[in-house]
Amino acid sequence: MNDRDSENIAAQFIERGWEITDDENQADVAVVNTCSVREQAEQKAIGKLGHLIWLRKPFGKDFPVVGVTGCMAQNKGENLVKLLPDIDFVAGARQTYKVADIAIDIYNKRKNGITHPPIPKGGKRTPKTSAAFVDVSDDTRSHLYINKHLPILGTKRACAFISIMQGCQMNCSYCIVPKVRGAQRSRPTQDIVDEAKKLAAEGVREITLLGQVVNAFGRELGKTDGITEFVRLLRAINDIDGIERIRFTSPHPAYFGDDLVSSYADLPKLCEYVHLPLQSGSDEILKKMRRPYKTANFLKIVEKLRNAKPNISISTDVIVGYPDETDDDFSQTRAAFKTADFDMAFIFKYSPRMGTESAKLPDSVPEEVKEQRNQILLADLAEQSMRYHDKFVGTTQEILVEAPAKRGENLFMGRTRTHRKAIFKATPKDIATLVNVKIESATVTALEGKIVR
Ligand code: 5AD
Ligand code: SF4
Repeated sequence: MNDRDSENIAAQFIERGWEITDDENQADVAVVNTCSVREQAEQKAIGKLGHLIWLRKPFGKDFPVVGVTGCMAQNKGENLVKLLPDIDFVAGARQTYKVADIAIDIYNKRKNGITHPPIPKGGKRTPKTSAAFVDVSDDTRSHLYINKHLPILGTKRACAFISIMQGCQMNCSYCIVPKVRGAQRSRPTQDIVDEAKKLAAEGVREITLLGQVVNAFGRELGKTDGITEFVRLLRAINDIDGIERIRFTSPHPAYFGDDLVSSYADLPKLCEYVHLPLQSGSDEILKKMRRPYKTANFLKIVEKLRNAKPNISISTDVIVGYPDETDDDFSQTRAAFKTADFDMAFIFKYSPRMGTESAKLPDSVPEEVKEQRNQILLADLAEQSMRYHDKFVGTTQEILVEAPAKRGENLFMGRTRTHRKAIFKATPKDIATLVNVKIESATVTALEGKIVR
């Protein structure tokens, strides 16, 4: 989601005649888009901001204009100015759509010699002399302005993300997202369909719909003829000529109804891949986390999905070391992880976030135990993904060619419908087309093979 927000920000600059550079030393403006989900992400962003400010060395140099946006900006607000008085702006998670205007305004003023208050001679600013612009207000219309994409130059782009909503109104006890991103706001269905059509006309073949609880999209509209607004949206996108593949992330088990399960069988473009966060396999912990389902309900959804599409790839998120998680709770997570047979997973060590409900509880599971549980699940995952990958060897898979591979001459990277990464020889004109690849070998992370023409 942050990648998508960053693209939206970059597109705002391009719209205003600016260029994007890979080299931060060349930048007149640098924006750091941040995450608050775990402490480590925040620390990393603060380090990065410090480095960008340092690029103005010798201090007193005016550029680059350095700003921060996204969840950490929202979460810390003025406190970031205390920490980094040299920063130029702090624009919260609900201000990302106006970041370019904020940044360019500061840039222009500074070019014209207007710095208010002036930078102290040869010195750094202090919180008192800071000139930072801070906007972390609650903007309830921000979700209507998140539809800008980078123009496609040169080779076509195979895949695009579309944010279909902002915010979240679940109240998972550990999670900072509802605090920083606000309550759920869904975009109008027609706007999303129009955006997808535009992308299809530019050559995009695969659309991934994004939302914190993506399958709760349009929940305020209820069901029409027994069908949720989210499934109606999937159907509308399935009807767009040129779009070959549809994905979405991340759904919530509580909103995974039968209309959504049967979409996997009914909608030919909906890829057989789902990222469904489990968080814990212990009902006791799920309850403490305020996740409104039991492990058995979760596994039932998995079973239905596997019945609808036997080769479906199912990935998940798990948190280990939630306060008071016992060995027994953890073994239940491990058992559910095996039963669901996830072939991909993100495993997180619990990180208390200030302002969340669970941060009031002692972070009682020692770091070594969290690490141990993390390693155990990672080993289970490696075994499960390898087993899943091995099944592809000898088969021919439809691959959407995305880009040159990071290494290797004439090697390209693409994905199966099940979201497995595949590496094969191809040419630049294959980008954004579907090819058949005979899979010859597999590792935990990728499949390798040859195009069958
Ligand atoms: N600590 C650890 N992991 C967390 N996540 C969210 N909040 C926390 C936290 N406080 C994980 C969840 C979520 C993913 C995006 O990040 O597993 O699904
Ligand atoms: Fe956070 Fe829960 Fe919302 Fe996901 S569903 S963003 S974990 S509060």
